[in-house]
Amino acid sequence: MVLRLRGFVLYTLFLSVFGLFIYFYKDTKIEADPVVRRKTETQKQEFTFWAPPSKRVVQCYPNASTLNVSSFFPELHRLFLMYRHCRNFTTLIVPKKCEKDTFLLLAIKSLPINIDRRIAIRNTWGKGQEIQGKKIKLLFLLGKTEASVPAQSLDQLLSYEHKEFNDIIQWNFIDNFFNLTLKELHFLRWFAEGCSHTSFVLKGDDDVFINTFNIVEFLQEMDPEYDLFVGDVISRAIPIRNTKVKYFIPHEMYNESHYPLYAGGGGYLMSRRTTQRLLSTAEATELFPIDDVFVGMCLEKMNVTPQFHAGFKTFGIRKPVNPFDPCLYKGLMVVHKLNPTEMWIMWTLVSDEGMHCAQSKKSL
Ligand SMILES: *[C@@H]1O[C@H](CO)[C@@H](O)[C@H](O)[C@H]1NC(C)=O
Ligand SMILES: *[C@@H]1O[C@H](CO)[C@@H](O)[C@H](O)[C@H]1NC(C)=O
Ligand SMILES: *[C@@H]1O[C@H](CO)[C@@H](O)[C@H](O)[C@H]1NC(C)=O
Ligand SMILES: *[C@@H]1O[C@H](CO)[C@@H](O)[C@H](O)[C@H]1NC(C)=O
Ligand SMILES: *[C@@H]1O[C@H](CO)[C@@H](O)[C@H](O)[C@H]1NC(C)=O
Repeated sequence: MVLRLRGFVLYTLFLSVFGLFIYFYKDTKIEADPVVRRKTETQKQEFTFWAPPSKRVVQCYPNASTLNVSSFFPELHRLFLMYRHCRNFTTLIVPKKCEKDTFLLLAIKSLPINIDRRIAIRNTWGKGQEIQGKKIKLLFLLGKTEASVPAQSLDQLLSYEHKEFNDIIQWNFIDNFFNLTLKELHFLRWFAEGCSHTSFVLKGDDDVFINTFNIVEFLQEMDPEYDLFVGDVISRAIPIRNTKVKYFIPHEMYNESHYPLYAGGGGYLMSRRTTQRLLSTAEATELFPIDDVFVGMCLEKMNVTPQFHAGFKTFGIRKPVNPFDPCLYKGLMVVHKLNPTEMWIMWTLVSDEGMHCAQSKKSL
C-alpha cells in the first residue's frame, strides 16, 4: 500500500515536472531566438507531409430533416444523426509516414487530454521499435478537444508532444464517443495514404496493455495478404434499447435483433489486406455511433469472420489472486482498463527476461 502510494506520488510529480518543463521550454525558445525557431519550423516541414489546415474550409451543414425522426432521442443521438453525413474532416497534426518495412502499426485511440496515458505507453509497451527484427510503429489517433477544457493550452502541449515524439495524428472533429466511427474512417484513409506497406495493424484504446512480444510471435506465421481479424469477439450482442445507457440505440437507427459479430474496441488485430478492404467498405457504409459495431457491420459485408482469441481481454480480467504473478501476463495479448501505474507494473513483469513462466500460450 505504502509502495503503491509512493509510486503514485512520484508519478504525479513526474507529470507535473514534465508539464512545467514543456511550458518553460516553449517560452524560452520563443523569446531566445526567433531565427532558431524559424529554422526548426522548416526542419519540421521536411518530416511531415501535410498542408496546414487549408483556407478552403468546406462547411458541412446539419441535416434538419433528421429532427423529425429523432425528436425523442437523447441529445447526443440527435446530434449524431444531424451530422452523420459529414464524413470529411481536415487533419490538424500529421505524423511521419510509416517506413516501408514496418511490420506492425499500433494505432491507439486517445483523447487530447490523456497525456499521462500516452507517456506511460511510450515508456512501456509502445517503446519497442523492433521486436525479433520486426519494425513496430506507435501512433495515437486524436480528435479535437471538447470546448469545456481550456483548449488553447492543450493544443500547445499537443503541438510540442508532436514535435518531440512525432507519433500523433489529429483530425478536426470533436473527440467524443459518438465520433469514434469518424475516427475509424479517417484512420483507415490515413493508413491507405501513409502506411500502406505495413503488414499488420493493432487498433486499441489508450487504457490497454498490449503484450507486443506475444503479438509479434502470433503474427510471425501470418500472411498480411490474407484477411485476418482477431480480437475479443462478441456474438449475438443485443442492441441496448434503454435510453439511459451510453450504448443506447433506438430501433430507428438499428432495427435488427442482434448485432453482427464484432470485436471489443479495446484492441483487435488485422492484416493489411483486411485494413485496405475495410476502408472501401467503410466509405460505402452509413456511420453508426458505436465504432466496434460499425467495424463488425463492415466485416459482415466483406464476408470476413472475426476470430476469437482468448488472449484479448478487452473487458478486463478478473481480479487475480496474485497480480505480480508473471504467468498471468505471459499468455495475454491485450488487457483493457489499466491505469498508467498498472501499465508500468505489467510491462516490468512481461519484459523481464529473467522471469520465467512455465505456462504455454496454448493453454489459454
Ligand atoms: C416532419 O413531420 C411532419 C408530420 O409528422 C411532416 O408534415 C413534415 O413534412 C416532416 N418534415 C420533414 C422535413 O420531413
Ligand atoms: C437527411 O435526413 C433524412 C432523414 O433522416 C435523410 O433521408 C436524408 O438522406 C438526409 N440527408 C443527407 C444529406 O444525409
Ligand atoms: C468526402 O470526400 C469524398 C472524396 O474524398 C467525396 O467523394 C465525398 O463526396 C465527400 N463527402 C462530403 C460530404 O463532402
Ligand atoms: C462530431 O464532430 C463534429 C465536428 O466537430 C461535430 O459537428 C459533431 O457534433 C460531433 N458529433 C457528435 C455526436 O458529437
Ligand atoms: C427495418 O427492417 C426491415 C426488414 O426487417 C427493413 O426492410 C427496413 O428497411 C428496416 N428499417 C430501417 C429504418 O432500417
